[in-house]
Amino acid sequence: MEFELDEDQRMLRDMARDFADKELAPRARAHDRDESIDPQVLSQMGELGLWGLTTPEEFGGAGLGILHLALVLEEVNRACASTGVTLSVHNSLVAAPLRKFGSDELRRRWLPKLASGEVIGAYCLSEANSGSDAAALRTQARPDGADWVLNGTKMWVTNGGIAGVFLVYARTDPAAPKAKGITAFVVPRDAPGLTVGKKEKKTGIRGSTTTEVLFDNCRVSSKAILGELNRGFPLAMDTLDGGRIGIAAQAIGIAQACLDASIKYSKERTQFNQPIGNFQAIQWKLADMSAGIEAARLLTHKAAWLRDQNLPCARAASHAKLFASRHANWCADECLQIHGGAGYTDDFHVERLFRDARITEIYEGVTDIQRLVIARSLLG
Ligand code: CAA
Repeated sequence: MEFELDEDQRMLRDMARDFADKELAPRARAHDRDESIDPQVLSQMGELGLWGLTTPEEFGGAGLGILHLALVLEEVNRACASTGVTLSVHNSLVAAPLRKFGSDELRRRWLPKLASGEVIGAYCLSEANSGSDAAALRTQARPDGADWVLNGTKMWVTNGGIAGVFLVYARTDPAAPKAKGITAFVVPRDAPGLTVGKKEKKTGIRGSTTTEVLFDNCRVSSKAILGELNRGFPLAMDTLDGGRIGIAAQAIGIAQACLDASIKYSKERTQFNQPIGNFQAIQWKLADMSAGIEAARLLTHKAAWLRDQNLPCARAASHAKLFASRHANWCADECLQIHGGAGYTDDFHVERLFRDARITEIYEGVTDIQRLVIARSLLG
């Protein structure tokens, strides 16, 4: 058993940490306030190769694994969770399935652009009436000659406002049992009939754009099908196994930011003539934050390692996301409590951490869906 990161992993993490501290942390407040990410940051991420971390080198990526991605995501999210989710969805939910399931043509067309960041990816699964019950989706794709015509509306699409390509799940066999009649399509933003709709006003991760995406007789060629016809649902689930590891890493980054802020404030803030860090009530909070972060990190790295070995990782990914996201919310709550009245104002970034943490228990499968995945695998 090897707990140490190797030299390459350490260097990558340190590069991401440096970028996060110097470029992201100073902008995180503006990203939140302006509800957008500074385009300069997006292009710097391209220069650093972050958009193509897990894309093979032959397509212009770095050809690294999910563990490498998790290390980078933790650092990026420690500084700015809006940037973190943008990067996670792009790599895990779009570039990864294109690499794994794409035809040669789809891979050649999209992966180089995704790897450079010239095109950002978005994942369109959820709809107004299909969130946790993802297989109940209603967006339809009907065949028309060599084409498919899509109709329906997707909701809560992360990166919707900036994406150049959308991975869209649509029902292609209405007569089949619900999870067996769904197909994945790779749809360019300029496909006729595709419109990016309402931008959501969110509690947290406000810098990332979350939109509706509407399909009104949106025509795509049959070459846009990712994987096999009517096998899109297992593809969506397999993709989410990877995505959930990314969200677990996001939660760890937020939790670490909470711990860092709490340690700093505990040393600075004096009450009863001494730093509040002298009080056991504060010390125990710090200790529990630290222990949980370490546990979440181990769970996440284990899940990432399994996925990098092509071993089954659904349960491990759900373990990681379940634990890390709940711990991030607990840390954010305690961090705000340590900061008291000051933490409840936007003078400190802890109120943003508190808002940003909340989504980690919701997207890419709510907490109870992670429990359901784990329990199903335990019960067989
Ligand atoms: N890998 C591969 N295939 C899988 C799989 C996995 N991890 N999990 C299930 N499957 C396959 C099954 O083997 C089955 O295949 P067959 O058709 O061959 O039998 C098929 O998928 C259907 O599986 P289930 O019967 O388990 O499906 P279900 O309808 O009971 O749903 C669920 C299972 C776990 C509840 C699923 O619906 C789910 O994960 N829901 C949550 C949805 C979710 O996470 N949404 C996130 C939206 S994207 C997002 O949030 C992005 C963002 O903004 C950041």
